[in-house]
Amino acid sequence: MSASPPGLAPLPPPIIAGQPSTALAPMQDVTDLAFMGVIATFGAPDYFFTEFLRVHSQSRPERHILRSIDENATGRPVFAQLIGEDIFHLERTVRDLLRHPIAGIDLNLGCPAPKVYKKNVGGGLLRDPDRIHDILGALRAACPGRFTVKMRIGFEDTRHFARILDSVNHHRVDLLTVHGRTVREMYRSEVRYDEIARAVAAVRCPVLANGNVTSAAAAVRIVRETGAAGVMIGRHAIRNPWIFRQCREAFGGQPVTPVTLADVHAYIRLLYRATADPAIPERAHVNKMKKYLNFVGQGVDPEGAFLHAMRRVQGEAELFAVCDAHLLARPEIRFADEPYPGVIARPNCETPDATSDGCSLETVTA
Ligand SMILES: Cc1cc2nc3c(=O)[nH]c(=O)nc-3n(C[C@H](O)[C@H](O)[C@H](O)COP(=O)(O)O)c2cc1C
Repeated sequence: MSASPPGLAPLPPPIIAGQPSTALAPMQDVTDLAFMGVIATFGAPDYFFTEFLRVHSQSRPERHILRSIDENATGRPVFAQLIGEDIFHLERTVRDLLRHPIAGIDLNLGCPAPKVYKKNVGGGLLRDPDRIHDILGALRAACPGRFTVKMRIGFEDTRHFARILDSVNHHRVDLLTVHGRTVREMYRSEVRYDEIARAVAAVRCPVLANGNVTSAAAAVRIVRETGAAGVMIGRHAIRNPWIFRQCREAFGGQPVTPVTLADVHAYIRLLYRATADPAIPERAHVNKMKKYLNFVGQGVDPEGAFLHAMRRVQGEAELFAVCDAHLLARPEIRFADEPYPGVIARPNCETPDATSDGCSLETVTA
C-alpha cells in the first residue's frame, strides 16, 4: 500500500510491505480472542477489528471484547469498533479505549439489524448524513491516533453516499472500509464493486473493499477492479481461515497453497479447543460450533452432505464422528477455494429479524 496522504495517520505496517492489505471483518459473536488466535494460526490478516462495542448512556466497554484487545497474542494490530450515535458517550468510550493497546478506533456505519438501525446507530445513521458529519468531527477530535470508518453504501439507496464520502475527507478519516451493499440489501445481494471504486476515487484515505471476497483469486480481482488499498474478509474467513495467507501468495503472484480436507479437520479440532469454556455445557458448545461449520461446510462437498450430517449432531463425539467420516475418509481431497454454488450456510434468513440485537451467527448466512 502506498504511504498515507499528508495529514493522515499511516496504517500499521502490513505483513508484506507494498502488497494490498488484508483485514478480518468485525463479526459479532465471532471475532473474539479465541477466533483471532485460530485465524492467526493459519495466517493472520494485516489487521483485526473487534466486534462492535455498544455505546449509549449506560454502556461500558464489554469485557470479553476488551480481552480481544488486551490479550491479543497474534502479533497483529486490533482496531476497536464502536456503534452508537451519542457524541458525549462516544467520546467517553474513546477515552476508555485509549488506555488499551488499540491500533485505532473504528466507527460502525453499516449494521443492518432492525433492532440496531431503528435506534439510528450502525446502518441507521446512513439516512442522516448531517448527523454522520457531526459524529465524524467529534470522533476525529477525540482520537489522537487512527480513526477509521466502516460503512455500507447507503440505507436503501446511494443518495447520501457522496456527501458521506465528503465528510470522510473533511474529518481526515485514516482508513475507510466499504461494504458494497445498502442496509436494505443485508448480506446476500450482489456487491456493488462500482460503488467501492467510486469511494476509492473520492476519498484521500486508503479504502478496504468488503463484501463477498470469497477467495484469494477474488481478492486480486476486486482490488484490481476497485483500485482499493486492500480487502476486508468476514464470512469467507470463517469458511477458510487460510484465506489471508492465500491472499498474500496471490498478491505476490505466487500459486495459492491448496488446502485439503485433512487440513479442515485440523482447523475444526483447533476451533473446538479454542472455543471450549468450562462454563458452557457440551451441547451449547456443539451448537456454537455448528454456526461456524455452516460456513466451513460450503467448501467440503458440492452436495452439502457434510452440512446435512453436521446439523443433526448433538454432542462432541457425534460431531467428530461426522468430521472423521466426511473429512478423513479421503483426507487428500482439496477443500474448495470458492464456496460450492447452492450450498447455503443456514439459517437462510434474509428477512430482517426484529428480535436480533445485532449481526449474529443466527441470522447471517452466506
Ligand atoms: C456473524 C456476523 C457478524 C457481524 N458483525 C459485525 C460487526 O460487529 N461490525 C461490523 O461492522 N460488521 C459486522 N458484520 C459484517 C461484516 O463485517 C462484513 O461487512 C460482511 O459480513 C460482508 O463481508 P463478507 O462477505 O466478507 O462476510 C457481521 C457479519 C457477520 C456474518
